[in-house]
Amino acid sequence: MNKIIQLRDKTFHLYIESGEIDRAIARLARQINEEAKDERPLFLSVLNGAFMFTSDLLKEITVEGAEVAFIRLASYAGTASTGEVRELVGLTDDVAGRSVIILEDIVDTGRSIAHLLDLLSPRRPARVRVAALFHKPGALEYSVTVDYPGIVLENDFVVGRGLDYDGLGRNLRDLYALAP
Ligand code: IMP
Ligand code: MG
Repeated sequence: MNKIIQLRDKTFHLYIESGEIDRAIARLARQINEEAKDERPLFLSVLNGAFMFTSDLLKEITVEGAEVAFIRLASYAGTASTGEVRELVGLTDDVAGRSVIILEDIVDTGRSIAHLLDLLSPRRPARVRVAALFHKPGALEYSVTVDYPGIVLENDFVVGRGLDYDGLGRNLRDLYALAP
């Protein structure tokens, strides 16, 4: 296994091996299987980053009636007065009255999740919970709760398991951190 990798101009070192990540995912799946067993949950996977977490987690989900949908938070430059505008793209399922479990690759400042929760609430889901493969509690700037945190990280920039640096590194099985 390569312990140092180079992605464009940056060097990353091996940080968390895949076995540990797999065990964290299995633990999250057990929790969700127990807590959502009568809820026919709708998993909302936030692309691009959550694609691999979604695939790994869903294979371990055994609750009846589980469904998965893929969404994206698109940002585009708004007018000068509104600044950045974010829009929820791809949600065609009716979430009204449903138990929704958001799947995110990582919660860093919490901005994306806070925004997503705001965009979902007018659609009246019965319940919304958040599962994030990685969580950096030290970087949180928004008041959001990660109901199912996989692995807690320091405030390092990481790649692998769906997370990228400038489009690269998503395919890595292990997690790598930016070398100090
Ligand atoms: P937040 O809105 O600050 O919580 O960050 C959410 C998004 O930023 C994540 O879904 C990732 O796409 C990206 N992100 C945050 N931290 C990292 C990291 O360490 N590596 C790669 N992407 C990250
Ligand atoms: Mg993301």
